[in-house]
This record gives sequence, C-alpha cells and structure tokens, in this order.
Amino acid sequence: MSIILAIESSCDDTSASIIKDGEVLSNIVCGQKVHKSYGGVVPELASRQHLSNIVPTVETALKEANIDYSELNAVAFTRGPGLLGSLIVGLCFAKGLALSQNIPLIEVDHMRAHVLAHFAEDPKPSLPFLCLTVSGGHTQIIKVKDIFDFELLGTTIDDAAGEAFDKTGKMLGLDYPAGPIIDKLAKEGKARFDFTTPKVDGYNFSFSGLKTAIMYFIKAELKKDPDFVKNNINDICASVQKKIVDILLATLERAAKDHKITNLAIAGGVSANSELRIRFEELATDNNWKSFIPRFAYCTDNAAMVGVAGYFKFLKKDFSTQDVTPAARVSWS
Ligand code: KG4
Ligand code: ZN
Repeated sequence: MSIILAIESSCDDTSASIIKDGEVLSNIVCGQKVHKSYGGVVPELASRQHLSNIVPTVETALKEANIDYSELNAVAFTRGPGLLGSLIVGLCFAKGLALSQNIPLIEVDHMRAHVLAHFAEDPKPSLPFLCLTVSGGHTQIIKVKDIFDFELLGTTIDDAAGEAFDKTGKMLGLDYPAGPIIDKLAKEGKARFDFTTPKVDGYNFSFSGLKTAIMYFIKAELKKDPDFVKNNINDICASVQKKIVDILLATLERAAKDHKITNLAIAGGVSANSELRIRFEELATDNNWKSFIPRFAYCTDNAAMVGVAGYFKFLKKDFSTQDVTPAARVSWS
C-alpha cells in the first residue's frame, strides 16, 4: 500500500493532494488573485503567496483525506518547468517533510503530470495514445507509448495556446488569466471575424502571428469606431477562440491519422475550454476514435496529477535525493 502527498507549485496555484494506491483521496488548489490586475503572473508575488499558502493547503488535503503526516509513504513535488521562486517553495517543503518523516522524495515533471492526469480518471486511455497538452506555457502533441516513454511530436515555436488566449485578452482589456473569460464571452458571440492561419512545419504550432493579426485588426477597427471592442467583445472572443481551436484540432487530427493512433486525449489548462472540449469530442466521434478529457479540476494546475505521476515512479522506486534542485526549464527526453 502507498499513501503519497503530492505538491504542485510551479506557477500561481498552490496545490496539495493525497493519493492512495494511485487513487485520488483529496486535491486542494489554492489560487492567487493577486496577479489579476497585472495582466500576468508576477513571479515574486507568486513565491510569497506560495509561502503563505503551502502549509494550510497541505493540511487541508491531509484532513480531507483523513490522513496523518505519519501515515505518508512518500512525498512527490513538481521539479519543473515553472517559475523558479514558486518551484523552490514546493521543493523545500517536500524536502523538509521527507526528512522529518523519513520518507522518499519523488520529483515530477509538470508537463508529464498534465498528461498522466488521465490515469486519475476512469476509463483510462490505452497505450499508445496521443495527448494534446495545452497550457499557459506549453502546446505539445505527445505520443505516449508507455507511462515512462513519451515522444514529443510537435510543440509551439513561439507562444503557447494559453498565452494566445491571455495576450489577446489583455489587448481586449480583460483580466488575467483571460482564457476562461474569453470562453465565457464567446458563448454569447458569433465567430464572424477571420484571421489567417499560420503555416508551420510538421506538427508544430505558432500563435505569435495570430496575436499580431488580432492586434492589427483591433487597431484598424478602433480607428473606424472607438467603441468597436466594447460593442463586439463577444464576437471577437468567439472568433479568436474558434481560430485557436481550429489550429489545435487540425494539427492533432493530422498527427493522429499519420500515426494511426485511435486513443486521443487533451490535457492542460486550455483543455478546460468548452469549445475545445466539444469539438475534440466531435472530431473523435467522426473518426471513430476514443477521446479522453479530464475533469476540470485535473485540467488546470493541480497536485492530483503530480501524485499520479509520482505514484508510477514510487512503484519503480525512482526516488530523488536531498540535493535535487528545481528546474525552470526541463528538457524533453
Ligand atoms: O495548465 P495551467 O493551469 O497552467 C500552466 O501550466 O500554464 O494553464 C493555464 C492556462 C492559462 O493560459 C489560462 O488562460 C488557460 O490555461 N485556461 C483557459 C481556460 N481555462 C484556463 N483557456 C481557455 N479557456 C478556458 N476555459
Ligand atoms: Zn500546467
């Protein structure tokens, strides 16, 4: 039997989860409202908030799972990628706990954890499967051949899909993170504006050109009508969202067909997007594929996914030592 405490602190969410034999007993996420008015995460503020939040978040996760510190068999934490200051808080807490309880320490790669979040759900995808991982910092198509054997088929060459949502939102005067706000406003709008689709090699993505196209479009329209954004916000959001989803799904479809893979999954914060979820499901039905979409709580940053990834490493006794350091960028291998 194994009881693992998992900690996620790579960006602006402090999260703790208890995983018993691979099953999630609790998953507590403490967000940070402090960044809202800055249009992005302020790293120094994020680390300070993690410091204040980590102990109550861990204690709530333990309490909800009805588990005591002394019952833990291991502690898993996100080593990276992420903000260095934020990662250090989770890592130091995990190291201290491992020492005090004399239990092993397990480092987890944040992006792999997003993919493995699917193993916290039932039914689970069968191997091999393709996972479109879309977050604030990454956009990847991964061929998951085995729990520990991932092949990166495509990635963004500039901005991530989440960044495309967030930066467009900033141009439109929306708060950070704009992704969920655009999602909400798009529901009331029509995608009647079109933007050019970037041409990218292989299964890679590019969102920086789209961001610039949207900026020039808004500037030109504002010249004609200073209230253009205010009066058309829902339609602009619907158009931007449709374009981002078009790009993501077209590339995923091509990768799946070329690789003859019929189990497909989405993961990461942007997989909480309602249009992406609906159209992904439709695409799968049209092609007779099996689709896997995590529940909302396992899409955005959460410690349950770190715990599940940590559990697989626990089974292999793949532990870290006390001299492990955080890694802002983790190289894909
Ligand atoms: O995975 P995540 O929580 O953190 C990172 O690892 O980056 O992803 C955060 C990203 C943000 O860019 C946010 O705007 C986006 O996910 N996001 C959404 C939605 N919910 C979160 N984007 C579009 N629609 C949503 N409903
Ligand atoms: Zn993430």
